[in-house]
Amino acid sequence: MTWVLGKNKHARWAEMKGFDRVIEPPFEEVFRHDHELKGKWHREWFGNNNPIILELGCGRGEYTVGLAGLYPGKNIIGIDIKGARMWRGAKDAHLMGLPNSTFIRTRIEFTSSFFAPGEIDEIWLTFPDPQMKRIREKKRLSGPHFLNLYRQYLKDRGIVHLKTDCRELYDYTLALAKANGLGIITSVTDLHREMPGDPLLSIRTHYEELFLNQGVPITYLSFRLPYEKEIISPGE
Ligand SMILES: C[S@@+](CC[C@H](N)C(=O)[O-])C[C@H]1O[C@@H](n2cnc3c(N)ncnc32)[C@H](O)[C@@H]1O
Repeated sequence: MTWVLGKNKHARWAEMKGFDRVIEPPFEEVFRHDHELKGKWHREWFGNNNPIILELGCGRGEYTVGLAGLYPGKNIIGIDIKGARMWRGAKDAHLMGLPNSTFIRTRIEFTSSFFAPGEIDEIWLTFPDPQMKRIREKKRLSGPHFLNLYRQYLKDRGIVHLKTDCRELYDYTLALAKANGLGIITSVTDLHREMPGDPLLSIRTHYEELFLNQGVPITYLSFRLPYEKEIISPGE
């Protein structure tokens, strides 16, 4: 069984190399080095000046594909370290012919090597690992460490969206947004009951389906991230 899964994974990696909207840079190319497209995504990759939206920890890339389909006038980039998961979204985007979508296989920690200040308009965090232990706050994708990283390339007051099943992560991020005076746009603790039919929020990810099948309510929070001052932990 392990062998079959392993074989499948390798077949997916190989197939993904044939997709023209997938970028898989080697570690040494982006670790403390700028990627060749940094600051040039509009002109040299997408060939337009449309807003660029990131889905970080995209997994199978449901938001990357879904947003690209909903908004032909926006460019969407899905990022994840796991190639076998990303293959699903990359293949869908390839089959659907979505020129405004792209997948990058890399670590989120390296994203400032890819994007220049102000190059990104919005960020989606879709069902990130909660990392709720106090000592793991640095790994939390909606925590101060990562928000300060996003400020390096997100536009001033650019939007961050967080969709999660984890009420603790939602409460923590809401407390952080309030403690830092971030402009909260939307905050709901049972998205599918409170905002049914919203096209943007109706896109469902793989993890979202798993939690919905268990009857877990889905939370959603969006807020603006300003340049002015460094983001601090809600506990500080
Ligand atoms: C819980 S899954 C959610 C996947 C997808 N967004 C969904 O909702 O189905 C979290 C994803 O984040 C990715 N991830 C976690 N930390 C990462 C990091 N530092 N860099 C890149 N990807 C990361 C994992 O590989 C995984 O695919």
